[in-house]
Amino acid sequence: MIKKILDSSAAQWLDDRTHAVQYIRFHLIDYPTPKNLNYMYAFGSIALVVLILQVLSGLFLAMDYKAATLPTGNGFSLAFDSVERIMRDVNYGWLIRYMHAVGATTFFFVIYLHMARGLYYGSYKKPREFLWIMGVMILLIMQATVFFGYLLPWGQMSFWGATVITNIFGAVPVIGDWLLQLVRGGFSVGDPTLGRFFVLHFLTPLLLIVVVLWHVMALHVVHSNNPTGVETSKKNIIPFHPYYTVKDLLGIGVFLIIYSYFVFFNPTGNGLIIEVNNFNPANPMHTPGDISPVWYLTPWYEILRSVPNKLLGIVGMGFAYVCLFLLPWLDRSPVRSARYRPVYRMMLIVFFVAIGTLGYCGHHPVTPELTLVGRIASVFYFAFFFLLPFVHKFEKTKPLPEDV
Ligand code: HEM
Repeated sequence: MIKKILDSSAAQWLDDRTHAVQYIRFHLIDYPTPKNLNYMYAFGSIALVVLILQVLSGLFLAMDYKAATLPTGNGFSLAFDSVERIMRDVNYGWLIRYMHAVGATTFFFVIYLHMARGLYYGSYKKPREFLWIMGVMILLIMQATVFFGYLLPWGQMSFWGATVITNIFGAVPVIGDWLLQLVRGGFSVGDPTLGRFFVLHFLTPLLLIVVVLWHVMALHVVHSNNPTGVETSKKNIIPFHPYYTVKDLLGIGVFLIIYSYFVFFNPTGNGLIIEVNNFNPANPMHTPGDISPVWYLTPWYEILRSVPNKLLGIVGMGFAYVCLFLLPWLDRSPVRSARYRPVYRMMLIVFFVAIGTLGYCGHHPVTPELTLVGRIASVFYFAFFFLLPFVHKFEKTKPLPEDV
C-alpha cells in the first residue's frame, strides 16, 4: 500500500520537484537494518511517538493555560485556576492534561530504557559517538523542559520545587546572587518566574525537536548497532519496511496500552506522575515538609545532595553529566556488546542499581541513613566511569560471532 502510493504519478510529480519521495524511500522504506534487532530497538520509535504526543497535547493546553499569578475571584492564582478550568470546563481538557502529565513521565521511562539498551549493547562506541552525545543533549533538554513545565500549574510542589532548584544558582561564586535573581526575575519565585518558565517550556521542546532530528540523521549515517555489537555483513541486512515498521508498531501499540491505563485509570501514578500535594495551590507562607523532584530527576538531585558543600554538590552533579558525555572515549574495549563482556556486564548491573538507589534516596526526606546510602551510591556511579578505561586490560571477553 505504502509502496503503491510512493509509485503513483502524483508522488513522482512531487519527487521531480522536491526529492521528498526519494527521501522517504531512503530513510523509512529501504533504510538498511541488521536483521537481528530485538524489541529493545523499538524504544527509539516509541520515544518519537511520545515526543509528538507531548508537543500536540502541550499546544492544546497552551490554548487555555494562563501564565500569571494574579489572584482570581476565588482567591487562587490565575495559573492554578486556569488548570482547574482546563480540568473541569474545557472539552476534553482533563484528557489533554493527563496525556501531557503521563506523557512526561513515560517519556523518561522510555528514554531511560533506550539509554540502558545503548549501554548494554555498547552502541555509544565508535562510530556512534556523536549519536550518543546528541542523546545526552536530548536528556539534558528533556530535564530542563520538565523542570520549567513543573512550575506552570502553580501548585505547592511547583512553587517549592522551583524555589529549591533555583536556589542552586545562588551557590555559584561571585555572580550567584545576580544569577539567582536573573533566573527568578526577582528575589523569590513569583509572577516573573512563571512568565519566563512558560516561555522556556515552550522553547526547549523546539530545541529538542531539532536535536532529535539530528540524532536520527546521525543514526542514518552510521546505521544501527545490533545486540551482538559485531558489524553486519550485506547478506544480513534487511530493509526497514516492512520488517521494522511492523515490529516497531507492535512496540508502540503495547506502549499505548500502558500509557492509556495511566491516562484513564491512574493519572497521578500514586504520586510518581503528579505529586498529590500539587493539587493544592502554591502557598509561599507554608513550606511542605517533604520537597523532592519527580522520580526521573532524583538520581542527579541525590548526587547534588550527597555532597555536604552546595557548590561542590553542583560540581558533582555537573560532573555526572560530563561522565555520560565522555563515555564513548572512556570505554576502550574493542568489543561492544555486554553479551561478550562479563566484567562490563557486572559493572553495568552495579551502575544501574546505583542509579536506582540514588533515585530512591533523592525521592525521600533526608535522614542520616539515607544520606549515607546516597553517598555510597554516588561513589558507585562515578566508579563505573573511572574504572571503565582500565577494564579492557584484564577482561576476558567471550568469543564473538563472525556475523550477526
Ligand atoms: C526524544 C528522545 C529520543 C528519540 C526520539 C530517539 C530516537 C532514536 C531512534 C528512532 C533510534 C533508532 C531506533 C533504536 O535504536 O531504538 C535511536 C537510536 C539510538 N539512540 Fe536515541 N532517541 C532519543 C534519545 C536518546 C538518548 C537520551 C540517548 C542516549 C543518551 C540515545 C542514544 C541512542 C543510541 C546510542 C542509538 C543507537 C542504538 C543502536 O544502534 O544500537 N537516544 N534513537
